[in-house]
Amino acid sequence: MSETDTKQADIILEADAVYHVYESKAEDGNVVALRGLNIAMRSGEAVAVVGPSGSGKSTLMKCLGGLMKPSAGSVSLDGRNMTRLTGQELVKLRQQTVSFIFQEGNLLNDLNARDNVAQPLINQGVRSRVAKRKALDLLERLQMGHRAMALPMMLSGGEQQRVAIARALITEPRLILADEPTGALDPVTSREVLALFKELHEEDGVSFLIVTHSKEVAAFCDRSLELRDGRFVAEHGSDLNIERLEVGRELLVDDIGTVTLPPDILLRLGGSGGYTVAELEPGRLTLIGETIDVGGELVLAGVCPACKYVYDNDTEQECPACGSSRPMVEA
Ligand SMILES: Nc1ncnc2c1ncn2[C@@H]1O[C@H](COP(=O)(O)OP(=O)(O)OP(=O)(O)O)[C@@H](O)[C@H]1O
Ligand SMILES: [Mg+2]
Repeated sequence: MSETDTKQADIILEADAVYHVYESKAEDGNVVALRGLNIAMRSGEAVAVVGPSGSGKSTLMKCLGGLMKPSAGSVSLDGRNMTRLTGQELVKLRQQTVSFIFQEGNLLNDLNARDNVAQPLINQGVRSRVAKRKALDLLERLQMGHRAMALPMMLSGGEQQRVAIARALITEPRLILADEPTGALDPVTSREVLALFKELHEEDGVSFLIVTHSKEVAAFCDRSLELRDGRFVAEHGSDLNIERLEVGRELLVDDIGTVTLPPDILLRLGGSGGYTVAELEPGRLTLIGETIDVGGELVLAGVCPACKYVYDNDTEQECPACGSSRPMVEA
């Protein structure tokens, strides 16, 4: 194997300039949910995705897992470009490689917990009795053995989430895509689930891409990516401070030179406008803002331009209703 081959083989998930537009005939038109995303995850890595509501996290997970075809760009799973596969090939590749844990809707309503967990394995051709035995073992590991025969509607949100986690783990996937997997769990169960993830990550080399708002989950990950308005704007190490994302943040510049500034940095810089390059050398760029004739001082907008939410807080950087970045406007 050449060096490039080895390098390629090491990448479990790769996205290249992924865009996604939700088309709509409604008055407010199409929604651009992803705007040119790149990611390369090494096999065995655990990566967190953090970002405000509406920034595109769930859309990203669906596009990366091959559940939704991105409007543009390509996604490769285990070295195979999913956009080029036939429906059947894609199903097979997904079954062999990846499992999902969504925010909700992970379970089939008419199957009990054990059968929900066993089903992905049965779909792979494993004998029903064997699959159900393994499902029970996993449910026990997640402290859900006593509820194995209950239908999802009889279970609490946190219990349903644990069944969903067991269902995701039963096929022994190499990659787990999880959308706020501990969001519905109490702190104790959440810690137990995280301990299980840790064991799979450290002992079995399972890769994780996890959307999360939890400090503990982000700390479990090797690095975190900050998503804003459909783009990755920055990367953080495992010491991410989820309440203060501006600390220890590394901004990302992509292949075509695009850099998106997080709203707090844009604010400190002086807002949108023209900048000249004052100093440039490898690894260092200094910009100087042109005097932008805006006819007055810039302040944070009082109303969200996207959803018309009225800000009542002077320092809020993003819209609590739709997650858009708060722009600067003339005072
Ligand atoms: N099915 C859909 N049709 C149209 N627009 C959609 C659809 N799903 C999501 N969107 C829009 O796409 C954008 C990204 O949504 P997405 O669900 O990916 O955000 P998110 O980061 O997962 O948010 P949350 O933290 O609230 O789960 C939002 O503006 C949302 O309104
Ligand atoms: Mg979401």
